[in-house]
Amino acid sequence: MSEFDRAKAKAFTQLMVRHLEGASVAIMIEVGRRVGLFETMAKMSAVTSDEIAAKTGLNERYVREWLGAMVCGGIVEYAAAERTYRLPPEHATMLTGPSSRNLTGMAEMFPLLHRVIPDVVDAFGSGRGVPYSAYQPDFTGLMDRRSRPRYDEQLFNAYLAKAEGLIARLEAGIRVADVGCGTGYCIALMARRFPKSTFVGHDFSEQAIAEARAATRGLANASFVVQDAARLESPTPYDLVTAFDAIHDQADPAGVLRRIRAVLAPGGTFLMVDVCASSELADNVGVPMAAYVYTMSTMHCMSVSLAGGGPGLGTAWGHQLASRMLREAGFTDVALFERVDPANSVYVARAAG
Ligand SMILES: C[S@@+](CC[C@H](N)C(=O)[O-])C[C@H]1O[C@@H](n2cnc3c(N)ncnc32)[C@H](O)[C@@H]1O
Repeated sequence: MSEFDRAKAKAFTQLMVRHLEGASVAIMIEVGRRVGLFETMAKMSAVTSDEIAAKTGLNERYVREWLGAMVCGGIVEYAAAERTYRLPPEHATMLTGPSSRNLTGMAEMFPLLHRVIPDVVDAFGSGRGVPYSAYQPDFTGLMDRRSRPRYDEQLFNAYLAKAEGLIARLEAGIRVADVGCGTGYCIALMARRFPKSTFVGHDFSEQAIAEARAATRGLANASFVVQDAARLESPTPYDLVTAFDAIHDQADPAGVLRRIRAVLAPGGTFLMVDVCASSELADNVGVPMAAYVYTMSTMHCMSVSLAGGGPGLGTAWGHQLASRMLREAGFTDVALFERVDPANSVYVARAAG
């Protein structure tokens, strides 16, 4: 047996403490987000807990205890002599507002993951996964809120711009499908921007499609179908199919990619936005948020695929496997644009004529 390395044990204790501190602060971030404390404090200078409580209408004792966690977690600054608290503007940018820089949406995911811990623990024994239904009714709205700022900022200038000439074709008028469209936010953005093109959103969630239809009422060039992507069909071929964060968790990802290829017109484009990772664990070590990616995978993405009898590719299926699967599905000219935003890569694949 190797010798017990005391220095290594000490360093690991410190690492564990940081992990547990981070988890605790994440809980308090979610509480603070829900009760609106960040938004209020961002508009205040250095203030006492009484002043914060008065401004928010919240209970001062709770506010003060929460502030304790925020100060020790390095989020809020504390002036002991005056007993005042301040959320510096450099921190407020990451905790408030509608932009994708507001990271509190990441913490919003944790309560849902906690709720399914018993299901995931069972699945560790059975290997049978956790069905999508276990995450509803919260999942659809949560994804929607989390994704919107990113699509507002990245959809046109970052994602669609990666396919050469695509914006011009969309302006001229083409047929587009979005697979796994959720609440149809991308469809709505595209349908407004490109009135000469027509857009069809496909999702197997009736809840998501009902919300998508309600959100796009009045947009004549947007429509939706409740359909399993593994059985994707269209009476007329599409010129462009998009999939935003919707392939890696499929029960039949290879089948879905083949169906996408099949509904594309010759020369058509498939644009896939998916999580940026390497298929090799060793490459992901030390990459910021990689542990989060594997956590999301275990707690949701891999699990829903396994529950559907799928391969459970996982959120970190990675560039190598994704590119290979696109080629195996019959696409040519598969181009990969790595980390187009902090978490996602863009793949542009062509259906040869
Ligand atoms: C992670 S969400 C992404 C939603 C949306 N594209 C976005 O970026 O906000 C994945 C979506 O794919 C849908 N989905 C998963 N498997 C599907 C399947 N086999 N057929 C159709 N939709 C599916 C889910 O209902 C969900 O709305």
